Amino acid sequence: MPSLSSKVAVVTGGRGGIGQAICARFAREGARVFAADLGQGSAPLPEGVTFQTLDVTDEASVAGLGAAVEAEAGKLDILVNAAGIAIEKTVEETSLADWNKIFAVNVTGTFLVSKIGLPLLRKAGGGSIVNFGSYDGFIADPGLAAYCATKGAVHALTRAMACDHGPQGIRVNAVCPGFIDTPMLQSFFRDAGNIESLKQQVRDIHPMRRYGTPDDVAGLVAWLASDEAVYASGQLWVLDGGLTAQVQQMRL
Ligand SMILES: NC(=O)c1ccc[n+]([C@@H]2O[C@H](COP(=O)([O-])OP(=O)(O)OC[C@H]3O[C@@H](n4cnc5c(N)ncnc54)[C@H](O)[C@@H]3O)[C@@H](O)[C@H]2O)c1
Repeated sequence: MPSLSSKVAVVTGGRGGIGQAICARFAREGARVFAADLGQGSAPLPEGVTFQTLDVTDEASVAGLGAAVEAEAGKLDILVNAAGIAIEKTVEETSLADWNKIFAVNVTGTFLVSKIGLPLLRKAGGGSIVNFGSYDGFIADPGLAAYCATKGAVHALTRAMACDHGPQGIRVNAVCPGFIDTPMLQSFFRDAGNIESLKQQVRDIHPMRRYGTPDDVAGLVAWLASDEAVYASGQLWVLDGGLTAQVQQMRL
């Protein structure tokens, strides 16, 4: 039997690189999935996946998502907070508007959607929340100061939520990817210039000698969302092809 049959799932950033792979994997595992994002995009929605317009920074929009899930599915078993943005700047280069924007999406968005999701998860008798941290929440890439700060905040929020809601049968974990080949990563390389040599350099410093794929991430998220992970909570799951196991880090 598929591991998520009869589960209802919401995936924010559900039309992004990683979010799409998670939605498709959840649907293949038998879940009913709401892919929530700013726009639907052009890629077709897999069977079992419904699109829901969402701006995670807007409380009314988040409330609309909660109401739609309640009306159409009556409960929620799995919430994945994958919506996120990156800003490639040092502190000196980062304006207050940049800072507020990235915190609004990556941190406040995770907070607002979780706040609306928790009562629905309780209604289902418990469930699983998977937040998106990053290896950048542990160690820093140069020129990503505000992004690193948001991911550190998501890690701390994940642990706090796991403590508060574990007694209600709600597990909360964060997946912390390294370099995953998505539009976010491609934009990072574009902005850094000298794309091909940089891509090769970064690939070569990975013990696995490759980037992660969205499907690699979806596999871990599907396990954390499933009942097989029944005792997994409050943890930060790094998925980076061994990158941060090394002594020496690269300089980009
Ligand atoms: N790709 C990587 O290498 C990598 C590494 C570590 C962590 N992450 C994290 O994984 C998550 C997914 O990243 P991705 O690589 O798929 O990026 P992506 O850019 O492909 O997708 C991000 C999605 O978030 C959506 N989004 C942005 N702002 C939003 C808002 N206000 N409301 C609703 N949706 C919004 C975008 O529309 C997009 O579909 C992010 O939290 C990111 O920080 C990615």
